[in-house]
Amino acid sequence: MKQEIMTIVSQQQLAPRIFQMTLTGELVKEMKKPGQFIHIKVPRADLLLRRPISLNQIDQSAQTCTIIYRVEGDGTKEFSLMSAGDRLDVMGPLGNGFDVDCLKAGQKAFVVGGGIGIPPMYELSKQLQQRGIEVVHFLGYASKEVAYFQNEFIELGDTRFATDDGSFGVAGNVGNLILEAIKTETPDAVYACGANGMLKMIAQVFPDQPNVFLSLEQRMACGMGACYACVCHVPDDETGTKSVKVCDEGPIFRASEVVL
Ligand code: FES
Repeated sequence: MKQEIMTIVSQQQLAPRIFQMTLTGELVKEMKKPGQFIHIKVPRADLLLRRPISLNQIDQSAQTCTIIYRVEGDGTKEFSLMSAGDRLDVMGPLGNGFDVDCLKAGQKAFVVGGGIGIPPMYELSKQLQQRGIEVVHFLGYASKEVAYFQNEFIELGDTRFATDDGSFGVAGNVGNLILEAIKTETPDAVYACGANGMLKMIAQVFPDQPNVFLSLEQRMACGMGACYACVCHVPDDETGTKSVKVCDEGPIFRASEVVL
């Protein structure tokens, strides 16, 4: 993990409150694994905590990385007001990243994303596809209005959509799509990022599949394993005192490794 002042190459709004920003800098050379994140300092003196945002795309030849984030508060609002040429203090890459080595060419992966958990699944899917792995995407949004990146996923492979209000794709959450899919399809691995409820459902649907990888969305402070703001409990812990740090040991865990 390193720190650098990176330069914004471009920024665009994809949907209400959803922005895509591309950055360039030497730090990109360190970025290899899908599912890792960068920790960005808000360029405002009164906002001390950095904001963790997952990598949506890594382009080594252009030396750029792309993030997609949702404006949630003052920090992300500041990011959304920036434009090409502006600079940001970035630490990273942080986190363990998704395990793509557990699959071989010809095998099938279910790639599941919900809401603002969708962006890191794009780089993951790209890397899986480059390895000859068949990808099936299951993407869930609140509504058509806040849906984004649909075509990019469609270009990579079979993509199925759900919206909470039924305005696009199947009505309901991605769980409905997955329950339908497993009637006829068996994945060799499942990768997911989204709200806790969605991750919990996936862990329950695939209890015997060892390759179920969940990227946890946890509040973070230091982002480096020092403050314990991001702990998650582990199974079979009778004392209730054992935990893992999502920023440092995660954010990706096998479903069997954490209690959601
Ligand atoms: Fe500080 Fe994870 S955010 S230990």
